[in-house]
Amino acid sequence: MSDRILVTGGAGYIGSHTVLQLVEAGNSVVVVDNLYSGHEWAVARQATFYQGDIHDRKLIRKILKQHEIETVMHFAAHTVVSESVENPSKYYHNNVLGSLNLIEACIEQGVAQFIFSSSAAVYGATGKRTVKESDRASPINPYGTSKLITEWMLHDLAEAAGEDFNYIALRYFNVAGANMSGKLGQATPEATHLIKVACQTACGIRPGMSIFGDDYDTPDGTCIRDYIHVDDLAAAHLDAWRYLQDGGKTRILNCGYGNGFSVREVIECVKSVSNMDFEVDVRPRRPGDPPQLVANSDAIRQLLNWQPQYNDLEMICRSAFEWEKRLGSAPAAGDYTT
Ligand code: UFG
Repeated sequence: MSDRILVTGGAGYIGSHTVLQLVEAGNSVVVVDNLYSGHEWAVARQATFYQGDIHDRKLIRKILKQHEIETVMHFAAHTVVSESVENPSKYYHNNVLGSLNLIEACIEQGVAQFIFSSSAAVYGATGKRTVKESDRASPINPYGTSKLITEWMLHDLAEAAGEDFNYIALRYFNVAGANMSGKLGQATPEATHLIKVACQTACGIRPGMSIFGDDYDTPDGTCIRDYIHVDDLAAAHLDAWRYLQDGGKTRILNCGYGNGFSVREVIECVKSVSNMDFEVDVRPRRPGDPPQLVANSDAIRQLLNWQPQYNDLEMICRSAFEWEKRLGSAPAAGDYTT
């Protein structure tokens, strides 16, 4: 099965891993990315690349038409929770208005399938051990709100569009790790994500790191998250696309493993796989952080037959550490070919 697929944000961390799997599966892939946090070198060379923005209706329309796009995978977004608390407008402009522009263009041009990068951040502080898709979404930061609004927009626009437009919104949990080939990984220089920060510290790129709050109501007082390997998440997009191709209907699905690890456990794991000890201090809570976010992943496993390959925190941390070492030792630009 092959298709003409547009990937927005395909030069970014998760987008680039998905593009790689899509081209390896024989699809014709077009990437549009404004390179705000992505890198052109990360786009598999079999894909057609446009530097552009999802706000640019003319460009999006032209790409959809010219390449006869049937499926759109929409990754392009700002994704830093703490930044969204400081600068909410940035998140509403890009994540909400940019998505609206894109979805409208897709429906107008007859795109049949849409896969949206939503987030576990839509749930907020649920107080539950694991969250199900049917649980109330009540985000506690503008990033999560921007993703929930986009889910609502998708719902309403799809209803109005009728049977011919179907979508899957994947609610990502905490994405981490790097492609096992060592050629792709999280390359945003100012990344704030825990595993990335811990690996940078293990590599000596940072002198030390902080735990943001150890007074949460969790077993060791630090926040609990469900860390998922980026290639398993990328694979979920291909599964979602096949499901829609087979006539599957619109759904919202959690994408996590269902295992929770605390910030302290993650840092210990990075210390162990890197064989490095480093300074860790404790700072006050970071605004917008829910204490615990772990997926109930029954729906995605059943509906899409999603079969994760890397459900192992050690493997995730090791791949992230190996990638960080590589980034630190050699410039990544121009380094990537498939
Ligand atoms: N943390 C630290 N120190 C750091 C970095 C993070 O203690 O240096 C803590 C955070 O406070 C939080 C946990 O590690 O408790 C995880 O933080 P991340 O920044 O790695 O990830 P978030 O949970 O804030 O957010 C991530 C993505 C979102 C996504 C969310 C879903 O950035 O896009 O996971 O759970 F929505």
